[in-house]
Amino acid sequence: MIFDTHAHYDDAAFDEDREEIFARFPHAGIGMVCDVASTIPSIDAVLDIAHAHDFIVAAIGVHPSECEPMTGEQLDRIRDLCADPKVVAIGEIGLDYHWDTPDRDLQKEWFEKQILLAQEVKKPIIVHSRDAAQDTMEIMKKCRAGRTGGVIHCFSYSLEMAREFIRMGFFIGIGGVVTFKNARKVKEVVAGIPLEKIVLETDCPYMAPTPHRGERNSSLYLPIVARQIAELKGTTADEVIEQTWKNAHLLYMMNETGENL
Ligand code: NI
Repeated sequence: MIFDTHAHYDDAAFDEDREEIFARFPHAGIGMVCDVASTIPSIDAVLDIAHAHDFIVAAIGVHPSECEPMTGEQLDRIRDLCADPKVVAIGEIGLDYHWDTPDRDLQKEWFEKQILLAQEVKKPIIVHSRDAAQDTMEIMKKCRAGRTGGVIHCFSYSLEMAREFIRMGFFIGIGGVVTFKNARKVKEVVAGIPLEKIVLETDCPYMAPTPHRGERNSSLYLPIVARQIAELKGTTADEVIEQTWKNAHLLYMMNETGENL
């Protein structure tokens, strides 16, 4: 079965038909989804969705493009909510210099504090990093992010960087971008790293694969991504789906009945 390791079903884009999409999961082979928070208010929505469905787990944290001046209470709240058995990771956290707002120092502060929080609560991290490779690597090394490991989601850097993150104990998240015609770098990464280090993700409602590029994305399109990865690795889509299912359970420290280990 397919494990979508990164989705945003709390997004308003799904308000009309969220449950209808979920109802199609069994037929499409979607077995498990991690719904990922991006702001403090979104954490409640993510947890509500996870609690209402046994095939959904949650990641909680603050996205670099969404961080506001930090208060101690916000971090305390994330820490407290980690006691919830549905919470499998801290995320998404990281650095985004593409939009370059808010201020880089504020992004770095949230990133570092959430990495350390993840170590305190012993959860893996989901890292969002865009146009910020060097600073991301530097902070992760400084904070010893390999202590918890996690995933570099929507990976957009070089094969060399992918190998370095893997050496630190991280999985590489691959989604719709790998199907884009001009995605030479991501294809090179997929071909060059072991399948044992890849996890599938949508980042839905964003990042729909070709031929749905630009449309609203959902986990239902992940078989397309699995087929593209299989082609790049000279294997079958079934093998990709089976291996990435195992990888995702290792990533989120879950056993295959969905319980936290
Ligand atoms: Ni995301």
